[in-house]
Amino acid sequence: KILILDFGSQYTQLIARRVRELNVYCEIHPFNKIPEITPDLKGVILSGSPSSVREENYPNPDITPFLGNLPVLGVCYGAQLMAQENGGEVIASTIREYGRAKLSHVDHHNLLLKEITLDSQVWMSHGDTIKKIPDNFEVIASTDSVEVAAYKVKDQETYGIQFHPEVTHSTEGKTLLRNFVVHISGCSQDWTPDQFIESTVAELREQIGGDKVILGLSGGVDSSVAAMLIHQAIGKNLYCIFVDNGLLRKNEFEDVLHSYKDMGLNVKGVDAKDQFYAALAGLTDPEAKRKAIGRVFIEVFDQESHQVEDAKWLGQGTIYPDVIESVSVKGPSATIKSHHNVGGLPDFMKLKVVEPLKTLFKDEVRLVGRTLGISENIIGRHPFPGPGLAIRILGDITAEKVAILQEVDHIFISSLKKTGLYDQVWQAGAMLLPIQSVGVMGDERTYERVVALRAVTSVDGMTADWCHLPYEFLADVSNEIINKVRGVNRVVYDISSKPPATIEWE
Ligand code: XMP
Repeated sequence: KILILDFGSQYTQLIARRVRELNVYCEIHPFNKIPEITPDLKGVILSGSPSSVREENYPNPDITPFLGNLPVLGVCYGAQLMAQENGGEVIASTIREYGRAKLSHVDHHNLLLKEITLDSQVWMSHGDTIKKIPDNFEVIASTDSVEVAAYKVKDQETYGIQFHPEVTHSTEGKTLLRNFVVHISGCSQDWTPDQFIESTVAELREQIGGDKVILGLSGGVDSSVAAMLIHQAIGKNLYCIFVDNGLLRKNEFEDVLHSYKDMGLNVKGVDAKDQFYAALAGLTDPEAKRKAIGRVFIEVFDQESHQVEDAKWLGQGTIYPDVIESVSVKGPSATIKSHHNVGGLPDFMKLKVVEPLKTLFKDEVRLVGRTLGISENIIGRHPFPGPGLAIRILGDITAEKVAILQEVDHIFISSLKKTGLYDQVWQAGAMLLPIQSVGVMGDERTYERVVALRAVTSVDGMTADWCHLPYEFLADVSNEIINKVRGVNRVVYDISSKPPATIEWE
């Protein structure tokens, strides 16, 4: 495996994804918590950073155990750090180097630069530059304005690069990472979904043995894939619970429950709609709604999990981005969880936790799910928030409003699927607004509700752009909604991007 030491760059996760795309396993660890060297560790990548080596108290961990023993690649800050600590000089760039540049000198004898072409485009993003390298370093690539674009330490497999190979604007960045990971570090490219499934299932069998596991299914990708992996390992000893909170899409509960049963899962569907509606009655504040839903879910899940006698484990669909300790949000409180008040926790939260996806990125979870044969209906679906339609109905929640929104959402989503637009959209849905407006229908004046349609493109939900859906499509969807859904006489389309607008309206 490859170790990526994170110095807080916005691109650190991208480095990990690129390495994984080469079918090589890697882990991200914060620079101030370097893990022990294990025999499977083949190479180390030092990430970039928002910090500067010219600051006081710049991040400067002891990496000497790696140097000379394992291949090391410093990217941007990582490169500057190694240069400075070995007697080189790093200064503020006179012009801030940001954006595309071209390699004007490439040492083709160097293994790191194998198959990298002269004039190759690279992505620069740094405020400092390496002015002078130490005596035992050699420059192996330059651009017109950056002489030390890449270096190698003469008697070590230690490299530094000033540009960012993980960003796709570095057109041959993936080749460079392959050179480091495969040719220099000697990692074998055998980290594939099949191999992941095989080894994970074996580990789960070992870990769980003959114990019983409880798992809450949500209909989403992560919990479904986690369930299938555990199911492959222990079969009927996995007890899945799928709660209908009355806030899902139209027919979603029945459809998904059916798919789960087809997949062979031992799943119990629990109709708790009334409990959720009762807890939500009269609540209008979004956070209050979220809290009420979370509370009722825990009550229902706790009650159901008591039906499974002597369960020992709680299965969870936690994925890698949820567990990576980010350097930028470090601080004493971020890593301390509320484990100390175990006494007050519901019983299921005291179970041992099993999280088979916690090393995977979202797209890897999908690949594994497809390899496991889970239907596209579950794997390819858009993200859907835990509180469901409750945060898409602005104001208080009633069963009647849920029913209206389910119809509207159903027309929108099925039209996206029918026209083939569904897979081009990252997430889509409809909002029921607390507004009524005047309309005419036939000879009659109406005073009915407004719905807003929202569709966005995104990579991870952190930022998003509104989708430029074709006018014809929007016209058809709007007509169908107004004609078919009683109580709605106006449809608007949300053309705000995130930031500053969020994807959900609440
Ligand atoms: P926002 O609205 O913050 O949404 O731009 C980003 C992503 O998060 C989802 N979302 C939630 N998911 N519980 C969830 O499980 C929530 O309370 C919640 N709020 C927003 C949203 O659907 C989008 O995918």
